[in-house]
Amino acid sequence: MSWKTLDDMDLAGKRVLVRVDINVPVENGQVTDTTRIDRIIPTLKDILDKGGMPIMLAHFGRPKGKVVPEMSLRVTLPALEAALGQKVTFVEKPDVTTLSSLEAGSVVLIENTRFAAGEEANDPHMAQFLATLGDVFCNDAFSAAHRAHASTTGIAHLMPSCAGRLMQAELSALEAALSTPQRPVGAVVGGAKVSTKIALLENLVNRLDVLVIGGGMANTFLAAQGAKLGASLMEPDYIETALAIMRSAESAGCKVLLPVDGLVAREFKAGAAFDVIPLSKDTVLDDDQMVLDAGPHAVAAVVAAFGTLKTLIWNGPLGAFEIAPFNQATNAAALEAGRLTKEGALISVVGGGDTVAALNQAGAAADFTYISTAGGAFLEWMEGKTLPGVAALKGQST
Ligand code: 3PG
Ligand code: MG
Repeated sequence: MSWKTLDDMDLAGKRVLVRVDINVPVENGQVTDTTRIDRIIPTLKDILDKGGMPIMLAHFGRPKGKVVPEMSLRVTLPALEAALGQKVTFVEKPDVTTLSSLEAGSVVLIENTRFAAGEEANDPHMAQFLATLGDVFCNDAFSAAHRAHASTTGIAHLMPSCAGRLMQAELSALEAALSTPQRPVGAVVGGAKVSTKIALLENLVNRLDVLVIGGGMANTFLAAQGAKLGASLMEPDYIETALAIMRSAESAGCKVLLPVDGLVAREFKAGAAFDVIPLSKDTVLDDDQMVLDAGPHAVAAVVAAFGTLKTLIWNGPLGAFEIAPFNQATNAAALEAGRLTKEGALISVVGGGDTVAALNQAGAAADFTYISTAGGAFLEWMEGKTLPGVAALKGQST
């Protein structure tokens, strides 16, 4: 890797501005999933061990440059303190004097960077102001690295900068999965819509040996072959796109697996009665029928494909996993990927907010080699884009 890490920095007595992503789910004033908080702890501890004082910069929600009290980062303090095992000082309005007089061993969290309009505008004045608050910059927010903001990119050009431990882990895992994978390499790409994943699919078919398409987006691909799928979720406007992706896959030698059967229901609700129906270009469903999950033969084909792979990337569910029994295909395939990983036969990397939730629900996520904390940034990385927050660490302009 061509960027510095905490190992390259002298941090003794230094104030270390750490960009973290603690944009965590909150309900009724409580953090409901602490994953992103737990994953930044090694960075904070390493900075403390090296005699530095971590001063966290982070966003929460999308307040659009205004102070929105419900989007205060204060809500994360109890979870942060519990995970770190020490007090975290919250600073609502940062100023140089307060942050210059920190005692050794202090940990600080600064209020939501997005309360200032200069953050998302990547305003040089905001970046310069932030830079005055510390001596060193450490970016540990891979999951916000697709945003070119003052606290993710602007600041990195103004002071000695390095990657944090989570940033390092994310970059190594994703490079191992996509840039220099052990082959054969495959991916599961699922979810509702082709339209949100065109760039991803176009990039992946040129890099993968096998692409499993699942979820609502598989319907658009099947419809492109001629299937009539009744009331199934699909995007008629993207049929041409689906055909173009199939052609690219063919010329790149990437095998595309579409579901060969599906669980078909007449109601979109938990416990709805369903039939298992073969899916092909010749399928004609009734007007009120919907494909809500991949069927058993489709899952068997996916599992067989996993058996041929050395590396697997997973983004998106295979069916309507939020409602049982239409979580069956996702669960079965995820458990098999987890099993192969535990056996040492597969390197498996998963990313994207819903995806991690789906694999957690399947009870399989913990068996995967690497779980990215990133949603949008994971997708943009998989699309082959340069993430501005990562580029800034390498000293490139963004
Ligand atoms: C995320 O939750 O995906 C990141 O924190 C980025 O948030 P954003 O999509 O509001 O920029
Ligand atoms: Mg997002």
